[in-house]
Amino acid sequence: MSGQNATSSPKSAISSDWHSNCQGGEVAEILLCLQRIVPPNTAVVAAAVADATADLYPQELRAIAKAVTKRRHEFATGRALARLALAQLGYGRMPIPVGPQRRPMWPAGTIGSLSHCRGLCAAVVARTPQTRALGLDLEWIRDVSEEIVFTITTATELARNRNEIPETELPGCLFSIREAVFKAYNPVTESFLDFKDVEVELDGRTNSFAARLANGQRPSFLGSRIIGGRFAVVRGFAVCLVAAPTG
Ligand SMILES: CC(C)(COP(=O)(O)OP(=O)(O)OC[C@H]1O[C@@H](n2cnc3c(N)ncnc32)[C@H](O)[C@@H]1OP(=O)(O)O)[C@@H](O)C(=O)NCCC(=O)NCCS
Repeated sequence: MSGQNATSSPKSAISSDWHSNCQGGEVAEILLCLQRIVPPNTAVVAAAVADATADLYPQELRAIAKAVTKRRHEFATGRALARLALAQLGYGRMPIPVGPQRRPMWPAGTIGSLSHCRGLCAAVVARTPQTRALGLDLEWIRDVSEEIVFTITTATELARNRNEIPETELPGCLFSIREAVFKAYNPVTESFLDFKDVEVELDGRTNSFAARLANGQRPSFLGSRIIGGRFAVVRGFAVCLVAAPTG
């Protein structure tokens, strides 16, 4: 399944209202990047955040009833893109309610993940059981400042990965990878993860990572203590994905 830019779909509530600070070029490059790193048979879409609230179902609208406008638009764009991705897999329109711990409740037979960052939004969706977990994260790498770096990672982890990618990209990638890991891990295990519960090892040659569950109190992920994924840096964004197939 190849990815598709949401702007090309007549079903998109996004295409008619393209008003965020995100540039079309950024969307296209991030979509291209995602298309390269998703496994086969995974639908991927990306778009600028827009006012897609007209696309929402009543229970989705209730979930953001008290939210500020920016959050309403991000949430609605995510749901609209998720439905576009589901349509690529042959599913009709349906609600994607907010589940426990804020996770999206994907239609039976599917699994997906959403991320929004700085006016940009992306969704990935695949069928279960071929794909059992997905975790997507976009992060503006400069948002991960020197001040917060040691709350999310350790000196040892930074040193281990220093030669893999440019030093300025390292904190942002290590942060974004953790968010992608959490989004894949939490729906499967219903368990929370602290930032230092995982240790990340990057491979800059293959743009892949292995996140080890270092806290023995945390349950394994699909029978493994290692959560693998792909990452890239595109136009200042870290783009990180965990996609777990069946054993
Ligand atoms: C939930 C969290 C991961 C979201 O990440 P973020 O960078 O703030 O925001 P993003 O836009 O990238 O992602 C938000 C989307 O993640 C998804 N999401 C939220 N909670 C989720 C969960 N428990 N499981 C799976 N996906 C989840 C939702 O789709 C959400 O968008 P929506 O509310 O519009 O539906 C983050 O806010 C958080 O709580 N992190 C703490 C947990 C953590 O990361 N621990 C470190 C693990 S090593």
